[in-house]
Amino acid sequence: MISNFSFPTRMVFGPGSLYQLPALIKEQGAKNVLLITDSGLVQAGMADRVLNTLKGHVETICFDGVEPNPTEACMEAATDALRSNQCDLVIGLGGGSAIDTAKAACFRLNHTGPLAPYEIQVDGHLQITNDVPPLIAIPTTSGTGSEVGRSAVITNKEEGRKVVIYSPKLLPIAALCDPELTTSLPPHITAATGMDALTHNLEAYISTTFHPICGAIALGGIRLVAENLERAVKSGADIEARGNMMLASSMGAISFQKDLGVAHALAHPLSTLADVPHGLANAIVLPHTMTFNKSVAASGLKDVAQALGCDTDNKTDDESADLAVAFVHDLLARVDIPNRLSLVGITQDLIPALAQQAIADANHRSNPRPCTETDMVDLYQAAF
Ligand SMILES: [Fe+2]
Repeated sequence: MISNFSFPTRMVFGPGSLYQLPALIKEQGAKNVLLITDSGLVQAGMADRVLNTLKGHVETICFDGVEPNPTEACMEAATDALRSNQCDLVIGLGGGSAIDTAKAACFRLNHTGPLAPYEIQVDGHLQITNDVPPLIAIPTTSGTGSEVGRSAVITNKEEGRKVVIYSPKLLPIAALCDPELTTSLPPHITAATGMDALTHNLEAYISTTFHPICGAIALGGIRLVAENLERAVKSGADIEARGNMMLASSMGAISFQKDLGVAHALAHPLSTLADVPHGLANAIVLPHTMTFNKSVAASGLKDVAQALGCDTDNKTDDESADLAVAFVHDLLARVDIPNRLSLVGITQDLIPALAQQAIADANHRSNPRPCTETDMVDLYQAAF
């Protein structure tokens, strides 16, 4: 079997790395920059921090119309701003929604028509052949890792589903990861996004796809979350914990080149049908998916337990996997995340529709234990 391994994203990491931005833009020879972000980050003064950094260096226009779970309309509005202002470089500032909108606008500028032919499941990357302007991603949350990923997720409102556009051309030319931009993130968002990072690393590690390099990165990411998430939640200004969570987030997205699993298949419908934030949805279902996977992935879960810092000496794989599950349950309590679907607005009557969408979600195909629609119902019930 021949494998392709690539890790091409340039990352500029560290407190104060925002000040590298003018030099990064200069390298690209850009004259006119579009900053894509959301109104919350404008109000929080974060967009101004970026604009002030660029003052005197390059003309910058701000588009602040990013919405949570960005829709096609949001992508088109950002693309219009890019086109009408004749910008030659894009900055995506924010969480996954802002960075994905920025990627989508860069793609959309020179790729017209319906989105369906560009979707990941029909090998849409083969259609993404035209020029895409350079993008610099500046994350302000630590969870999605979108800054190092090559896909953008756009919500198709009419069909109530997520559309994934994927192409190496969507990779940012640089990810600027400055932990100082995450210190004002509220505890509940820090907790939920951090659990998304844990889920990426953990699901990637035990997924069936062969990618030992990503596997090693995933274990490192799991260790960083175990050691730093509670610190980042409880003392937001802890720059070391914030930096380590930022790394864990990027490592999660690098490692999920090794694909994800059933937790993400269960989480996506919770967001599209019931507006549960993505990280929170993953956090609630994750320990139940680990128990579900134990019968076929106990030895992988033993490695996970060790990365989480559990004492697995003289323990069987099964016992070690149980320790990993217990650790995740305990972590949810320590970072104050509601641990049941019934606590986040899910009702029993929603479960059949959720399960129907979960089984249609491609992420479970790389789950170590094959899933049926009945399994999806059972997993939602276990987390209910
Ligand atoms: Fe995720």
